Amino acid sequence: MAVAAIRYLVGFFGKQKFDSFSETLIKAFNAVIGLQALMGLALFIWTWMEEGFVRQRAEHGFAMIVAVALVGALSSRWKKLEDNKRYRNYFILILVVFAILLAGMLGLRRDPMALFS
Ligand code: HEM
Repeated sequence: MAVAAIRYLVGFFGKQKFDSFSETLIKAFNAVIGLQALMGLALFIWTWMEEGFVRQRAEHGFAMIVAVALVGALSSRWKKLEDNKRYRNYFILILVVFAILLAGMLGLRRDPMALFS
């Protein structure tokens, strides 16, 4: 994510052409979070059957699925944008999704603020 964010930021300010590396980065990002969501979903169903329903896990799953859907839908919708806008939009998308992922992961912890103390 950090590599992609930096590449898109440099591309945006450098007014560069949207190259194949940038293309690969967004595809890889889509693939990795998509796969993670599938594994999470399997784990969610598994733990639901074994240990019963846990609200925090469902909230986590919901937040993550929203994040994955956002990346998938917006990255394909913005494919035909001019290069500079594509860099800008992808950069913002990564920041927003990072925030959702972080919130979704912290929500699983009993005491998230303990991480900072
Ligand atoms: C981008 C997608 C996702 C990321 C980055 C992610 C990340 C994580 C992380 C960091 C943990 C904690 C692991 C640990 O502390 O040992 C976790 C656990 C878990 N995730 Fe996800 N997850 C994603 C998607 C999903 C989805 C879509 C679901 C279900 C619909 C899901 C269900 C679960 C469950 C059930 C656990 C175990 C919770 C527990 O141990 O109480 N995840 N995930």
